Amino acid sequence: MKIGLLGFGVVGRGVYEITCARDDMQVTKVLCLEDISLPDAEAVKDFKEILNDDSIDTVVEAMGGLHPAYEFVRAAIEAGKNVVTSNKALVCTFYDELLPLAQSKGVKFRSTAAVGGGIGWLSELERSRRVQTISQVGGIMNGTCNYILDNMTRMGLNYDDVLKQAQKLGYAEANPSTDVDGIDTWHKVILSSNIAFGVTVDKSTVPVAGIRNIQAQDVENFKAHGLVCKLISTGKRTENGCSVYVQPTLVKEGEPEAAVPMNYNLITFIGDTSERMSFYGQGAGRYPTAYNVVQDLVDVLEGKGFYAPYGEKVAADNSEKLTWYVRGNWQGETAESWGNAVIVKDVSVTDMHAWLKENSEAFVAAIRA
Ligand code: HSE
Repeated sequence: MKIGLLGFGVVGRGVYEITCARDDMQVTKVLCLEDISLPDAEAVKDFKEILNDDSIDTVVEAMGGLHPAYEFVRAAIEAGKNVVTSNKALVCTFYDELLPLAQSKGVKFRSTAAVGGGIGWLSELERSRRVQTISQVGGIMNGTCNYILDNMTRMGLNYDDVLKQAQKLGYAEANPSTDVDGIDTWHKVILSSNIAFGVTVDKSTVPVAGIRNIQAQDVENFKAHGLVCKLISTGKRTENGCSVYVQPTLVKEGEPEAAVPMNYNLITFIGDTSERMSFYGQGAGRYPTAYNVVQDLVDVLEGKGFYAPYGEKVAADNSEKLTWYVRGNWQGETAESWGNAVIVKDVSVTDMHAWLKENSEAFVAAIRA
């Protein structure tokens, strides 16, 4: 396998290093705008040098971002090259376009590293749905947020300092808003729901709330009630479609998610045969993520392509009513007070996220029953 590698950042460099040690695949060209010199590959600055190179059969996209990653991936598929990508924004946004395109061109398209970094989550989800109906997916899907929440909870550290540390360690996206505002998790749960339920979830119907506004006082309030805050994604099959959302969630000390440390992820599916299955591991970082990219390359060598048939577009229905911790200018009914915050019952996910949009300084977390 001859590979054209797009991007030489955290993930791209890891892919290059791992493939250098293998006989069955070789990175022959690397697209990188900076001046680099590599012993085993040619560094190029123009994507056309990879696109028009007929000896390259597979493109690895590790640039991140939507553009020009989308244009490059689309062109590579149209030119008959297999594509492996770790780019969740790309796959989530163009799911119902890139999958059928790859299918019509007879090329392989895989993106296991797009969710869970080094965890074989999407590849197992794909296998799982072959023999059972999956009713639920979700969990802790963002290493940066977990790193921040874990350090705030266990070490009493301040939000800004921990975020800087996560950036230094290479966990955070180039724009950390993507992590802390939940967008990265949003992409990941939509992609997971698409695969698990065989649909294309309408992204505009999936609400997301992040952890940007959490304060040390909130963490103290949670501790006083035996709770731990995590950024949790949820995708559920419902009678008429699905329910999909991302929000800070308070779980009881002693529950599996509460114990997840540092930048680790814990992602779960529930199936009618397997019941609950959880996947725990490094959700970010150079080598874990590059590991799953290389696993996909091996799958491509073995002829394995799509995760799942792309399905019809469905709107998420988030009318489910939950109990919430709210710190902010809540004017509605409250059940009790926790210091400077209140507990609010029987408010739907849709209604609480709509309130949060109008109250952008507030911090809200669902309390898991
Ligand atoms: N920024 C992401 C995270 C990287 O922190 O989980 C892996 O997708």
